[in-house]
Amino acid sequence: MRSRVGARLGSLCVVAAGFVFLALVLVSSANAKSPEYAGVEKCKRCHSRANLGGEEYPIWEKSKHAKVMELLKPGVAVEAKKAAKVDPQKDYTKDEKCLKCHTTGWGKPAEAKADLLNVQCEACHGPGSEYRKTTIMSKKKWQEDAKGMRAKAVEAGMIMPPTEEQCKQCHNSDSPFYKEFKFAERKAQIKHWKEKQ
Ligand code: HEC
Ligand code: HEC
Ligand code: HEC
Ligand code: HEC
Repeated sequence: MRSRVGARLGSLCVVAAGFVFLALVLVSSANAKSPEYAGVEKCKRCHSRANLGGEEYPIWEKSKHAKVMELLKPGVAVEAKKAAKVDPQKDYTKDEKCLKCHTTGWGKPAEAKADLLNVQCEACHGPGSEYRKTTIMSKKKWQEDAKGMRAKAVEAGMIMPPTEEQCKQCHNSDSPFYKEFKFAERKAQIKHWKEKQ
């Protein structure tokens, strides 16, 4: 009798231990996969050339989004700052009130040494530490199955296509310089993609 109860308890323990193990595996894999901001240098490697990722980087580099830290320096955009009652002689380059919209992924987990100044790719396309990997972003794999690979990238944190909500994290009335934001119009102004066939 005793030994039977013992055996029962024993198997219960095995089941319970199994659940604990499973829970730990789930938690650790969730942790391993939670995406962090990688910084534009990581995207530049492939997105500068058509035969690697595409030619988005050189277009972005010339855009205003790539230079928004300049605006926080003293003596820059003086008239606009005066009109918005922002001190044109003050240095705002370390001011959290401004940085949350003039950098990428402000206050969110980032890879070591990631340079996240200005409005980079990941501000619109999502944190890239997982989807930037060659297991996902491979020209060969996308040529074989673009739809499947896109689904994998999205699962790994990629936002595609970026929506109006993504823009309105910054283009909102918390900005001292807020101008009405018409998505379709503004989207056309940041074009770095090919026309859809
Ligand atoms: C190892 C090279 C490589 C790296 C690094 C890389 N990409 Fe890509 N990326 C690709 C390739 C290849 C494709 C597929 C292009 C195609 O359609 O043929 C792609 C596709 C994309 C797409 C389009 C997805 C779609 O739905 O069409 C986006 C957006 C993107 N990458 C953003 C990024 C961002 C942001 C980073 C940096 C965090 C990055 N990539 C890093 C190679 C790379
Ligand atoms: C809620 C996000 C947000 C915050 C906070 C923010 N900005 Fe901006 N800033 C923007 C956006 C978005 C624009 C572009 C506005 C547009 O064109 O619609 C902008 C534009 C600007 C411009 C250009 C204005 C012009 O008309 O040329 C300056 C200068 C600027 N910001 C400085 C600052 C300073 C200084 C602070 C902090 C005191 C700050 N911003 C805080 C989002 C923000
Ligand atoms: C301000 C937001 C924003 C930034 C910054 C941005 N993108 Fe995009 N990206 C978009 C939008 C919006 C689309 C269009 C999606 C659609 O098809 O509707 C797009 C499309 C793309 C595509 C699809 C290309 C194609 O031909 O279909 C790629 C690849 C891409 N972006 C890569 C990048 C890379 C790399 C960077 C940085 C160098 C970057 N993007 C910066 C918003 C952004
Ligand atoms: C992380 C904050 C941030 C996000 C996200 C963001 N923007 Fe901006 N955007 C800015 C700031 C700051 C400026 C001011 C640039 C300047 O005046 O020099 C700006 C300026 C612009 C401009 C005017 C300059 C130009 O390039 O012609 C357009 C258009 C624009 N954004 C479109 C978009 C769209 C579309 C999205 C979403 C797909 C988006 N932005 C997402 C911060 C952001």
